[in-house]
Amino acid sequence: MTNVGILAVSHYVPEKILTNKDLEKKLDTSDEWIRSRTGIEERRVASDDETTASIGTVAASRVLEKANCPADQVDLIIVATMTPDSVLPAVSCRVQAGIGAKNAGAFDVNIACSGFAYALALGCSYVTSGMANKVLVIGADVMTRVMDWSDRGTCVLFGDGAGAVLLGEVAEGYGLLAQELGSDGRGAEHLVIPGGAGAKPMGSKHLTDKDFTLQMNGREVFRFAVQVMGNSAVAAAKKAGITSEDIDLFIPHQANSRIIESAAKRLGVPMEKVFVNVHNYGNTSCASIPLALSEAVEAGRVKEGDKVVLVGFGGGLAWGALVFNWGGVSEIRKKADAA
Ligand code: UT7
Repeated sequence: MTNVGILAVSHYVPEKILTNKDLEKKLDTSDEWIRSRTGIEERRVASDDETTASIGTVAASRVLEKANCPADQVDLIIVATMTPDSVLPAVSCRVQAGIGAKNAGAFDVNIACSGFAYALALGCSYVTSGMANKVLVIGADVMTRVMDWSDRGTCVLFGDGAGAVLLGEVAEGYGLLAQELGSDGRGAEHLVIPGGAGAKPMGSKHLTDKDFTLQMNGREVFRFAVQVMGNSAVAAAKKAGITSEDIDLFIPHQANSRIIESAAKRLGVPMEKVFVNVHNYGNTSCASIPLALSEAVEAGRVKEGDKVVLVGFGGGLAWGALVFNWGGVSEIRKKADAA
């Protein structure tokens, strides 16, 4: 089996910023309420000509540039998203064309906010099994396009963004140590966009505009999240054979700072070892983990040999956690250059 790891990570966020103060003007809400209940201060909003595919393409191009990897060396592109440009075709095909990855297969993963964790686990399995050498995994969402802007309990939480990683072989002992995926479909109704597909197709009786927006039972999702975030991270760490003291950096899905704090507590990791950027971007769904990882790397928070735990949760209900031993990239690069 090939050792698989993250060769590079990058991100893109739209320029337009929507602050809590801006929301105060549109909604019966307050900066104080949003900050104290969620930690969010502002979020990004895609411009009219941006889509999940276009922002995902920018993140993908940036990661290839960082990894110094020509697009034609990519074997597979997996895009995690819950806000595709259209039901058909897959966003990943648009990204494939956008970056000119002429030798790559492409498909999407839709498992809401845990999408990136699932896509990452899947991408890793292609490399470990030898079915692919280089896999591009992208998490991208334009959540502001599926908000009901009259639902103050939900619309203040989300924002737009994209993140991407390039997966490939790393030196022995480095890379993915363990992963843990889970789901509980009994909670399916807690997070839904009901309209526009098989159950409520166009023209259905009683279909309204709200059916095309995200409907969320915030309290139930909160209850589920505080349990599952910590538990799945603990389970993945155990599989990896590490304890909470061994964890150098915890990168949880950036949905709500209160959920993040309780997950860190359950995992036994102090907040200095937790990367948080939810205040700047809100919940960017599938982009949240790679966006946080990318900023953590840029900030010098990740060093060779660090044990990094990533964990996502969301609609489905579903969750996923992965543990990496960071690094081991240069050794393989030197070997490839020498060959
Ligand atoms: O990727 C997964 C995505 N989902 C999540 O992560 C969501 C998880 N859930 C949450 O983060 C929290 O449940 C919320 C932040 C959504 C809500 O926080 P809460 O502490 O559970 O508030 P609540 O729903 O219990 O509402 C408390 C009060 C209510 O007023 P009353 O009924 O007590 O008078 C709400 O109407 O706060 C009110 N409220 C607001 N007030 C001002 C709800 N939203 C707002 C708002 N501004 N934006």
